[in-house]
Amino acid sequence: MKYAHFVMKILVIGSGGREHAIAWRLARDSGKPEIFCAPGNAGTARIATNVAISAEDVPALTAWAKQNRPDLTVVGPEVPLCLGVADAFVAEGLRVFGPCQAGAQMEGSKAFAKEVMTAAGVPTAKAVICTDVDSAMSALRDFTLPVVIKADGLAAGKGVVIAQTRDEATEAIREMLVDAKFGKAGSQVLIETFLDGEEASILALVDGEHAVLLPSSQDHKRAFDGDQGPNTGGMGAYSPAPVVTDAMLPKIRDRVILPVVRELKKRGIVYKGVLYAGLMIGRNGEINVLEFNCRFGDPETEAVLPRIGGDLIPALQACIDGTLSEELVTVRPEASVTVVVAAAGYPGSYEKGMAVNGLDEAEAAADAVFHAGTKVKDGAVVTSGGRILTVTGLGADLRSAVDKAYDGVRKIQIAGSRYRTDIAHRAFDRAPSC
Ligand code: AMP
Ligand code: GLY
Repeated sequence: MKYAHFVMKILVIGSGGREHAIAWRLARDSGKPEIFCAPGNAGTARIATNVAISAEDVPALTAWAKQNRPDLTVVGPEVPLCLGVADAFVAEGLRVFGPCQAGAQMEGSKAFAKEVMTAAGVPTAKAVICTDVDSAMSALRDFTLPVVIKADGLAAGKGVVIAQTRDEATEAIREMLVDAKFGKAGSQVLIETFLDGEEASILALVDGEHAVLLPSSQDHKRAFDGDQGPNTGGMGAYSPAPVVTDAMLPKIRDRVILPVVRELKKRGIVYKGVLYAGLMIGRNGEINVLEFNCRFGDPETEAVLPRIGGDLIPALQACIDGTLSEELVTVRPEASVTVVVAAAGYPGSYEKGMAVNGLDEAEAAADAVFHAGTKVKDGAVVTSGGRILTVTGLGADLRSAVDKAYDGVRKIQIAGSRYRTDIAHRAFDRAPSC
């Protein structure tokens, strides 16, 4: 008698480079799952079935999942998590990788995250939380310059102002609390001590009690080479980030990630999914938390997940079951670099609908091409966002990974597109031989 091979059905929620990288990595698992992406993009359409539901439409996602019964759902972006997509799926008896709404507040409310960090003794900048202008102005007097002003809620990466003068700080506070520039997200502000150093990202898998750190990485937020120009959603990333030494990793797990997981548990929140710590590493190796996110980073994921060997699905399942352990995550020794190809004008206004050519050649030259802002129109791939593609290269060291990624990038043809040419520069600035 023959038994049918069980094929797992997996739903990935989201439409960016991160979600393409998640789907790409899951598709490489030995069980060869069937993958669905809601809503996905032209890249996910090549390896999965796209489902035309917005990542933020929790009722429609839940209705689809109720009917189609995925064995596992992986949530990419923060918005559906903060809207409670995991709670809605769990209520329907569905298995979901991503924290509940209460846990997602670690990203959804910087005031909540700061309070949890303080209670858990996690190293972070000193901050005062204010809801009215008078108390904010009086609190501001106790801070030296530069000072950091943050909107409490989700503000699409625009809610943080590093004020160099008191006037700038005052204006940022007014914009948030009086002019409601970020709506409800700015109805509370944090006034925070400025921290100096180099940033790094740590993505940790968490099962409510245990944590396994994925390899370190570093994002490049500014639009232009040399970290110049306006902030973007990220122009590239690399892994590992040498600013995070091997000796720091157990400290980050034991003094940053696990204390937060335990503090949340004390409050009745069993956090399952990715807990992403945005760290500032000081000149003498001091580790401070700048922010937590409740999901995989973008574009860090496009650099980190290609470094995970073996199967990834058992580790994600273990997060749901509370049985996570180090042995479930295999890290490949190669370094990786991912370079974002962006539309001319991004992060300002830019054109959409431009033809995307050279994808196969880029994939052959590099290791993977993840689509971030693309769609299929009349059978052809066209641009649909500011960050269009991320091209990932792996190599024996960061230098060869950089070369591989840029070999791929140079094959891409999109009118007017541009990219940073110095991804991973901080690693080379620090150790010219790496
Ligand atoms: P956040 O959303 O809190 O991570 O802030 C966005 C960015 O603002 C960070 O990636 C840092 O570049 C910067 N930032 C936030 N908080 C601080 C701080 N206390 N000191 C220096 N830079 C900060
Ligand atoms: N790369 C920054 C983030 O994902 O928030």
